[in-house]
Formats: sequence, C-alpha cells, structure tokens
Amino acid sequence: APVKVSKICCIGAGYVGGPTCAVIALKCPHIQVTIVDLNQARVDAWNSPDFKLPIYEPGLEDVVRQARGRNLFFSTNVDKAILEADLIFVSVNTPTKKSGVGAGFAADLNYVELATRRIAAVAESNKIVVEKSTVPCRTAESMRTILEANSKPNCRFDILSNPEFLAEGTAIADLFSPDRVLIGSLQTSEGLDASKSLADVYANWVPTERILTVGLWSSELSKLAANAMLAQRISSVNALSAICEATGANIDEVAHAVGFDSRIGPKFLRASVGFGGSCFQKDILNLVYLSESLHLPEVAAYWRQVVEMNEYQKRRFAKTVVDTLFKTITGKRIAVLGFAFKADTGDTRESASITLIKDFYAEKALVRVYDPQVEHEQIWMDLTEAIPGTPVDSIKKQVTLCPSVLEACEGAEAVVIATEWKEFKEVDWAQVYSKMEKPAFVFDGRMILDADALTKIGFKVTTIGRGS
Ligand code: NAD
Ligand code: UGA
Repeated sequence: APVKVSKICCIGAGYVGGPTCAVIALKCPHIQVTIVDLNQARVDAWNSPDFKLPIYEPGLEDVVRQARGRNLFFSTNVDKAILEADLIFVSVNTPTKKSGVGAGFAADLNYVELATRRIAAVAESNKIVVEKSTVPCRTAESMRTILEANSKPNCRFDILSNPEFLAEGTAIADLFSPDRVLIGSLQTSEGLDASKSLADVYANWVPTERILTVGLWSSELSKLAANAMLAQRISSVNALSAICEATGANIDEVAHAVGFDSRIGPKFLRASVGFGGSCFQKDILNLVYLSESLHLPEVAAYWRQVVEMNEYQKRRFAKTVVDTLFKTITGKRIAVLGFAFKADTGDTRESASITLIKDFYAEKALVRVYDPQVEHEQIWMDLTEAIPGTPVDSIKKQVTLCPSVLEACEGAEAVVIATEWKEFKEVDWAQVYSKMEKPAFVFDGRMILDADALTKIGFKVTTIGRGS
C-alpha cells in the first residue's frame, strides 16, 4: 500500500529545490520538509534572520516566512535529513559537461550520482527517491542500480521521476497552480504505490486531474521535450524576426497573427535578443547528445539547430548595433540595460546580455551596465568567464557597473535593452536623451519600449524584428 509521507528531504537548495520544497512545506503543514545543501553560505542565506534569501523570486520570501521553523528547515546536515525522511527529492545541478566524453553536450551527472550514493550509504529504512533534477532519459535506472548495490539489508528504494516545470521569475505562481505535475514510475505495484504517495503530497493543493502519472522514461523524456519545444518556438520566432527586419514586416504583428490560431496559441512567441537561462540550451544539447548516442543523427541535427539559431540571433543583434553606429563602436559608450537572463530574476546563467557585452568588449566599446537585481560580484564573475584569459582589472577598464539607468546612459551613444525589466518602460526617456551624445540610439532587444514616443523625443530607434 502507498506510504503516507510525513518527512521529506530535499537534496539541493537551489533555484528548484528551495522554492519547490518551500511551497510543499507551506501547503502541507503536516509534513516536515528539510532542504539540505553542501554549500554552507547558501544554507545560511536561506536561514538568514532578515530573510536575505540566496535567490530572488517574487513571493518566495512570504512563503519562507510562513513555513520556516514551523515545518520547513534548511540545513547542511545531509545525512540526518536522509535518515529521517520517507521521501527524498534529488534536486542538484546537472550542468553541461565541460570535459570528457560528451563535453559540451551531455549532462554532468556527477552531482546526481554523489547524492544517490550518499542516500544508499546513509539510509536505514525504505525510501522513495525522487529525481527532481532534469536528467537524460533512463537516469532513474542508473540511480536504482547504485542504490540497490550499496544499500543496507531490508532497505528498499522506489525511484520516481518528477521533473519541475517552474520558470524563474514566476516560480511561486507556477508552483501554486502548475499546468501539470508529472510523476513517472515503474509500472510495478511497488512503483505505482510510490507514485501514489507522491501524488498524495501534491494533491494537498493541486487538482488531481492536473497530476499526470506515467512511466519513468516518458517522464524523464517529457521534461527534455517540453524545454526543447518551448525553446524551438523562440528560435522560430527569432528566425522570422530576421526576415521582418529585412522586409519591413513587424514580428509583433506576425506573432500576434500566427498565435491567434488556436492550434499554435499566443504564448512564448516574443522575439528577443536570444533566449538565456540555465536550462534551455543545456537541455537541448542533452537531447542532441541522447539522439546521437541512440544513432539518430537526423534527430540530433534537428534539435541542434534550435541552439544554433539562438547563437545567430545574439550575434546578429550585436552586429546590428555596430553597423548602425557607423560600423564602429571603438571608444564609444554603450549602455546595456539588464544583465539577468529575463525579468524578475537575479539569475544570469546563459544570459544573452553576457554575449552582447563580450561582443561589445571585443569591439573596444566602453560598456556601462545596469541591472536592478543582479549582484555586481556576479557580473564580474560572468564576464571573466566569458572573456577568458583577461584579468578582471583589464575588463574594468572597458566595463563600468552603474547604479541606475540614468547613470548608465550618461554620455552614451547608444542604449541597448537586453532584459525586459518593467522599470525600463517607466524611465523618463526625455531626461535620458538629454544626457546622451547625439545622435542618440536605442536598440530594443526585447520589444518593450514605445518606439514612436522615443522617435518623437529624438532617438534613433531600432527594435528587434521591425523593418525600417
Ligand atoms: P542550482 O545550482 O541552483 O542548485 C543545485 C544545488 O545543489 C546547489 O546549491 C548545490 O550546492 C547543491 N548540491 C549539488 N550536489 C549536492 C550534493 N551531493 N549534496 C547536497 N547538495 C548538493 O540548480 P537549479 O537551478 O536548482 O537546478 C537543479 C536542477 O533542476 C537541474 O537539473 C535543472 O536542470 C533543473 N531545473 C531547473 C529549473 C530552473 O528554473 N532553474 C527549472 C526546472 C528544472
Ligand atoms: C524555462 C521553462 O519555461 C520552464 O518551464 C522550465 O521549467 C525551465 O526552463 C527549466 O527547465 O529550467 P526559465 O528558463 O526559467 O524557464 O524561463 P523562461 O520564461 O522559459 O525564459 C527562458 C528564456 O527565453 C529567457 O531568456 C526569456 O527572456 C526567453 N524568452 C521567453 C523569449 O525570448 N521569448 C519568449 O517568448 C519567451
């Protein structure tokens, strides 16, 4: 019979483990939830008395304030939390491998394996082990083999796949009312019982018709498929944006007209300077690697093109800036507004902004960056990684971090919108104009500004996906 879950452990207190399990704690006061991580600084931040949490996510602080200390705990004591739990989420990072077999494509499963081995070494009773991390298809099988080979007698492990579909910036809303919760299990009676145990946790707030239960491998693959298809929509619309710019069509109008078809739908069709974030590129490359490993080169090439189109879009946008500024930006001040990969997050992983600044740096521009959320230390880390072999002090000669839009734009020849932060819409653009060199250029990589109003002020405006 299904076990009634009373204690949950989550290994990994990151962007997924933190918000996901904090919401479980909030919605299930009868379940004790302990989120553990090896990173002491991160755990300390989750525990900070003034709620200076390690990630910025609207609504998260409120959730943590309500549940922390009641039935939600953050700790570095991984073993204790494993020992006590009946259900363990594995929510560790699965970055793209940087070296070895599959470098640049395959997921690095080292963290998942270490967490799995720890569970096997420590557990003294039956556990339901849930893959929350995004992993290649059939990873659950490797986890089961590791667990079974290393477990104590009389310990049984049931493995579930329960991929996470939250998007950063809307994580709490997504978790409160998810489109669906997906649970994959073996179709044995033990597997189905475990699946039911986890479904019962979610059923505390998610309508049961939104809780989908499927086979393990379908669940794992569905996560990669969902991200690949979402990213594919963006690459499709970005490919069309290039045609718009060359013809005088307007991508906003095209996307609106296309999205009105109920089979296509209006969401996720916003042309941009390119998608970023920790997952789209990583998960597609993972799918490409999987396809190649399965001797399906045509399938691999198909998905790879989604990433290539994204790289093209970023390069194309940077080139538009240089070309428009009379083919040189050497020594010119360029204000880059936004460093996060999307609005309402402080996360910068794979942000298009990084690629743009790298390109402007190579053109010897003087880049002035402003972002309302991202820590300066993070920006320097990202730029030193993106511009290898260059000490941060050399980068600082060309890149300045500014405390406001106005200061970033002071004396600049061009403003580049890289992230769709709402505050960029609310800026007093006439005042910005008065502080800039003339002619003053605006490059809207996110289609958020009123191009006509800016043109009236005197700006020369280039909007992604809009012909002149
Ligand atoms: P993250 O890097 O923010 O967090 C992972 C955490 O796991 C880190 O704090 C790390 O210290 C910890 N960790 C690693 N190994 C550990 C171990 N053995 N024991 C204890 N702690 C350990 O990563 P994330 O963004 O939360 O992503 C986690 C997974 O979820 C990835 O597989 C990702 O693809 C997937 N995912 C992410 C998102 C997202 O929006 N970020 C959304 C859906 C799915
Ligand atoms: C994405 C998915 O939306 C989530 O469902 C998934 O769980 C998550 O990846 C994951 O697996 O990590 P996330 O990367 O947080 O979430 O954010 P998105 O809203 O998907 O945006 C990704 C990137 O695409 C951003 O750079 C965004 O600006 C860009 N984007 C998005 C566009 O350029 N156009 C759009 O129409 C939508």
